[in-house]
Amino acid sequence: MAYIKELKFLKNHKDLVDENYSMVAVPTFSDTMDKELDQLFKSQNKTGKVGELVFEIDNDSRVVYYGLGSSSEKTPENFRRAAGEIVGYALAHKYKDIAVECPVSDEGEYFCQAFAEGLILSSYRFLDYFTDERGDYHLNSITMVGACKEEAAKKGVIIGSAVCDSRDLGNHPGNVTTPTRLAEFATEVGKKGNMKVTIFDREEFTEMGMGSFAGVAQGTNEPPKFIIMEYSGGKKDEKPIMLVGKGLTFDTGGVSLKPGLNMDQMKFDMCGSAVVFGVMNAIAELKPNMNVVAIVPSTHNMLGGSAYRPGDILTAYNGKTIEVLNTDAEGRLILADALAYASKHYDPEYMLDFATLTGAVVVTLGHIATGLMSNNESLVENIKVSSDNTGEHVWQLPLWDEYCDQVKSEVADVKNLGSPGQAGTIAGAAFLKAFVREDIPWAHFDVAGTSYHVENRSYIQKNSASGQVIRLVLDLIGA
Ligand code: BES
Ligand code: MG
Ligand code: ZN
Repeated sequence: MAYIKELKFLKNHKDLVDENYSMVAVPTFSDTMDKELDQLFKSQNKTGKVGELVFEIDNDSRVVYYGLGSSSEKTPENFRRAAGEIVGYALAHKYKDIAVECPVSDEGEYFCQAFAEGLILSSYRFLDYFTDERGDYHLNSITMVGACKEEAAKKGVIIGSAVCDSRDLGNHPGNVTTPTRLAEFATEVGKKGNMKVTIFDREEFTEMGMGSFAGVAQGTNEPPKFIIMEYSGGKKDEKPIMLVGKGLTFDTGGVSLKPGLNMDQMKFDMCGSAVVFGVMNAIAELKPNMNVVAIVPSTHNMLGGSAYRPGDILTAYNGKTIEVLNTDAEGRLILADALAYASKHYDPEYMLDFATLTGAVVVTLGHIATGLMSNNESLVENIKVSSDNTGEHVWQLPLWDEYCDQVKSEVADVKNLGSPGQAGTIAGAAFLKAFVREDIPWAHFDVAGTSYHVENRSYIQKNSASGQVIRLVLDLIGA
């Protein structure tokens, strides 16, 4: 894995010796440029828009001006995006050490955090499997210069690093990021953050009554894992926040086999769990005063002599029976047991789940926004605030009773499909709702569109896992 894991800080401009850096980036606002700079920008057909880079071409100077738009419309997200353009340029030109003047004056801590997040997030490249020079990572350091709020920037570094680690889990293929690897990662994070980590193997969770998860996992030889992480940073009697993630480490579709084209991308089907692990990874460093529990059911979805079949009826952890009409709608099946387990053994303040659950959400919202469905409107309002803060778009879809009726089965309590050709993303959530205790405020994030293939975000590498929604959750829980 390659990314910049820490920032250097230089308070005094006088100490900045240009020669040490391949590039010194200086912030510029479109409305406050002096005449000379305005001239320079115009000569390169630029106006100072967010992320624009303008070079002092007439000499050997390494100074690069970066645009931040109008000074009266500063946003944290614009700071992140501008940071992304700077680092993207440095990576493309194989620069080693760069200095970036911090654009923050009196905007407050969060702007500084966001700028630092942008620098770290955009430094990420997935190069692990190149054995030639394409595997070389040249960037060595990023120095923040000026009146930077160091504590806030350091928080940005922690959060950015956690996102990059999660991207890595997603980018490694299904023969590397296995359920066993995810369990290992949870154990490492648990050690770092003083968390209790419990892992149930196939025999244990089958014995415990997780027939739905066991059904999906019965077709694979790769050992499945049911992973629980408990962080207790708050008071003993304080209700925990519950996070559940789909850890489907490769989705072939099972007997309801997926088409071959782009099937390789189903290595990303554990990105819901990568959100959960990313949040816990950051928590392990930030050590906030709160209680958080994470649950990840993890398995491949394969086909073969022992695989489950369409028509099979499974019994979930809460005793409800499920008619399997398509073995490719497996995410909801493994989550059913995780949500039921959480509902039985915990009394959370609220519960969030994250899953690459449906192709339909990509049709609905593209790779731009995460689908959001919930049983609690005030939870949704809070999520929307964090979405605005972090620039990670969510869009709510309804979860009316009529949709829940569509997952009722003729032969069992529920079926794992909705009505053919209708509201596929909502059907997924409607199914999950049957396994959530009714008094728990709960929200479901369908991240199938936003966890990879994100375009036009300077701080997210194309064709990479994005690590999106981790920052939103950290903001929401107030870590
Ligand atoms: N992992 C897929 C969803 C998915 C599809 C994620 C495309 C990313 C891109 C999920 O397990 C799945 O196969 N869902 C089916 C559900 C259907 C059978 C009701 C789908 O979306 O086709
Ligand atoms: Mg599937
Ligand atoms: Zn899947």
